[in-house]
Amino acid sequence: MPEHDPNDDVLTELIVDHREVEELFVKLEGDLSAEDRQDALEQVVAELVRHAVAEEAWLYPAMRDFLDDGNALADREISEHHEVERMLKELEGSDPHDPASLPVLQALMTAVRGHVEEEEKQIFPALKAVCTPEQLHERDVPAALIPHRTSEGNRPSSVLLLDRLTPAALGTLVALYEHKVYIEGVLWGIDSFDQWGVELGKEIAGQILPALRGETDSSAYDSSTAALIARFRASNGD
Ligand SMILES: [Fe+2]
Ligand SMILES: [Fe+2]
Repeated sequence: MPEHDPNDDVLTELIVDHREVEELFVKLEGDLSAEDRQDALEQVVAELVRHAVAEEAWLYPAMRDFLDDGNALADREISEHHEVERMLKELEGSDPHDPASLPVLQALMTAVRGHVEEEEKQIFPALKAVCTPEQLHERDVPAALIPHRTSEGNRPSSVLLLDRLTPAALGTLVALYEHKVYIEGVLWGIDSFDQWGVELGKEIAGQILPALRGETDSSAYDSSTAALIARFRASNGD
């Protein structure tokens, strides 16, 4: 297996990840015992989820910041990640020994290989050309934190939209919602406002901010997020 070196810049780390995934794909294309097949599949899922978190934390924000067509490119890459996530979920729900799961695995490998090729041939060289070495070492996510920074999605959530941000509206929100969250924290003995999920929520909110402002296209997001963005923008007269 290719090895990670703590001194590598982010792009080199991502390329090492790509090679790790490719090795697992080649393994899966060969003859494997049922147990080894299950193992390799589990490693592929874990590796791709971890890799996606690392890219969404550094690569896509960096593309938006540094590349001329970065917003459009990042939106497209993110929608490809969503498609890969959808296939991973489908694989997780199927029996890996059942030949019926093979077409999904094939489609997943084709999608990931195409995505990797575009990143390595176009996006990484473009970033290397415009970023300083310091910028290429920034904002890496330590491996131990990745489970806390991973949002698998597809969880029920509540969204409260206020027509206008006024003291009364904010007070209503605090009374209705923050008080409930505070009491739950007291009952469970945790600080409700100092949890990984809160940080993750802020990060995700930061990612959709350009779409909320109408600076980027919302079609890159899943249908429920896209509908929410459309509703928000409509209520702002867009
Ligand atoms: Fe990617
Ligand atoms: Fe990648």
